[in-house]
Amino acid sequence: MRTIRVSGGTPLRGEVRIAGAKNAALKMMAAALLTEEEVLLSNVPRISDVKVMSGLLQTLNVQAEWCGPHTLRIFAGDLRPARFGIEVAAKIRASFLVLAPLLARCGTASVPNPGGDRIGHRPVDRLVEGLRGFGVNLEYDEAYYNAECPRLAGCEYTFIKNSHTGTEHQLLAAVLAEGRSVIHNAAQEPEVDDLIAMLNSMGARISRPAPRTLVIEGVQRLYGTHHTVMPDRIEAGTFATIAAATDGDIFLDGANPVHMAPLLEKLREAGVGVETSTEGVRVRRDGDLTAVNVTTRPHPGFMTDWQAPFVVLLTQARGESVVHETIFPNRLGYTDQLNEMGADIELFNPAPPEWGYNWNEADDLPTYRHAARIRGCTPLTARDLVIPDLRAGATLIIAALCADGTSHISGVHWVERGYEHFIDRLRLLGGQIEESFPAEVPA
Ligand code: EPU
Repeated sequence: MRTIRVSGGTPLRGEVRIAGAKNAALKMMAAALLTEEEVLLSNVPRISDVKVMSGLLQTLNVQAEWCGPHTLRIFAGDLRPARFGIEVAAKIRASFLVLAPLLARCGTASVPNPGGDRIGHRPVDRLVEGLRGFGVNLEYDEAYYNAECPRLAGCEYTFIKNSHTGTEHQLLAAVLAEGRSVIHNAAQEPEVDDLIAMLNSMGARISRPAPRTLVIEGVQRLYGTHHTVMPDRIEAGTFATIAAATDGDIFLDGANPVHMAPLLEKLREAGVGVETSTEGVRVRRDGDLTAVNVTTRPHPGFMTDWQAPFVVLLTQARGESVVHETIFPNRLGYTDQLNEMGADIELFNPAPPEWGYNWNEADDLPTYRHAARIRGCTPLTARDLVIPDLRAGATLIIAALCADGTSHISGVHWVERGYEHFIDRLRLLGGQIEESFPAEVPA
């Protein structure tokens, strides 16, 4: 397992180019299956999730290969509805999004349940229910969803609760369906709009007449396109937090301040200096930090993926902050390791927000806690840390960059799922990080 040694205490300064958004690129790779023509995607991040998705598409007889440093060429001229392994599906939730394109093009599909991960049970019930509306005959058998539909029929569907990927899957089914489809309570995440822009450039007819309503007029066929993936607002938020937490000063080249607005607002409220321009966002520490309260929400609220890095920042803020996670039922587990480093974080269950939690009630276990009370500021001390998942991984690395001493961190492969050359880029900003390989076991 890849391990790194991080020596904390150095402010990170300089400029970092923000990569393309993982959570847009993966869906666009699935969308490319909707046409027999070539699709080029630019600004695709070189991360392991994209590699997994490319491998999955190849199983479906699709060509998916790099034709430039960040340009992927996808050609699904002879798409086949082959089954792929459960172990592949378990690696990335976006694997499930090939279901609708396979149905639209081949009339049949057999796709594994993508499973959950360490942030709580992540069912696909909303995606499955949404698909049935198109007239799809769908059954679940031994971890596979087997679906059939000679021609998808346009439909109206209302999401009871927000679903980012669910909205995207519904769109992928609707674009080639016969007639009109309407999605009520549709997600508003910028990645959804970027997918819509790509689909419309392929000949789809999608409009958003109201913020949470999408109308899709089905078309007979879609064409090839060349689309540039939007900048990753999660990555940009991670680097913004690194600048503030390490007492540094970083220019986020290419970051979109509009997509980051809820985070930038909270950074300013905490006393962090933020400047925005058409080229990007500059974030720098401007003296002492003050406590702030944060509640995660679907877009245009404070993103759940910014929550964990922001908690590290709040350990360095004076006063008591409360962070309430409302999207995933179990996304505060990493705080145990922060407490071992010297943080003072107490988990508890507050009254749910008036708009309700985004997970299904049945997926909330009695052991889960949904809010953190952070008392600061507390110096952090280096520790041996184990990365449990992607966003918590970046978070523990930020904590180690702030800590006194050298931390040994294992499980770095998790971070490579979503951040391109993360460690190298931190080093370029002045982060003191070395690779440490496990000692060889004598034969
Ligand atoms: N949910 C259900 N049933 C469903 C769909 C969702 O119970 O059928 C629950 C989820 O378990 C979660 C909540 O509803 O508790 C919201 O889920 P949503 O569908 O909105 O999120 P997602 O599509 O699973 C995507 C990103 C996440 C990101 C969230 C929020 C991808 C592949 N994943 O998840 O990204 O945090 O939206 O914007 O796009 C990450 O990149 O590390 C990551 C977790």
